[in-house]
Amino acid sequence: MAIPRVIAHRCGGILAPENTLAGLRVAAAQGCRGVEFDVMLSGDGTPILIHDETLERTTDGQGRVAETSDAELARLDAGSRHSTQFAGEPLPAFGDAAELCLALGLWANVEIKPSLGTDAETGRRVAVRAAEVWRGSQPPLLSSFSLAALEAARTAAPALPRGLLTEAPPADWLAILRRLGCATLHCSRDHFSARLLDEARAAGVPLLVYTVNDPEEAVTLLRAGVAAVFTDRIDLLPGWAE
Ligand code: G3P
Ligand code: MG
Repeated sequence: MAIPRVIAHRCGGILAPENTLAGLRVAAAQGCRGVEFDVMLSGDGTPILIHDETLERTTDGQGRVAETSDAELARLDAGSRHSTQFAGEPLPAFGDAAELCLALGLWANVEIKPSLGTDAETGRRVAVRAAEVWRGSQPPLLSSFSLAALEAARTAAPALPRGLLTEAPPADWLAILRRLGCATLHCSRDHFSARLLDEARAAGVPLLVYTVNDPEEAVTLLRAGVAAVFTDRIDLLPGWAE
């Protein structure tokens, strides 16, 4: 699996509204080759791009994503909270974002983000949809903080690679990763350590670090052997796009 070394966080980082098709287009226009985004189920069980379990922070809607129908979600503005330039930007269905990634040649890390109590169902539906869209193409990397979601994704689409997403990797991270058949380990920059990188390297596991917005820090991590950094500042890391 060829992982781009710089991955745009939530589609386009700070340059576009998070988890939107506009963000994917901005990332591609910046020369970024990889993107990360968050996927949750709507009230109708459709995988959509959104980070929070509620609509208020990133859209003009209200209430819980898991209790909102696709028809209601389709009416929302997911761009104005970022800036007037993106007013009217829709809240995208995962399938549309996946197809746009393919059209733009973007590698994708699909973060499975279950709302409370929907871990296995979200893992299953996201993996099934991803396998459909990326059939015959370089597959995306699925990841999740939820072990139940990762297990369900493996059962539904075993051929899709998975990443164990942690804030601070537990001492037994490698055993968990092996048990779940994950290919990569992801951790917060706040919990990165040279020792963790050594452990990952010794185990042959690529380590990905989020969210690194200081270009000097990003370059230091990449030079040390971190496989990739997730960043909101794709504008500041152009030289590492390859
Ligand atoms: O997948 C890396 C990163 O996106 C995890 O944190 O909260 O931004 O989804 P969050
Ligand atoms: Mg994420």
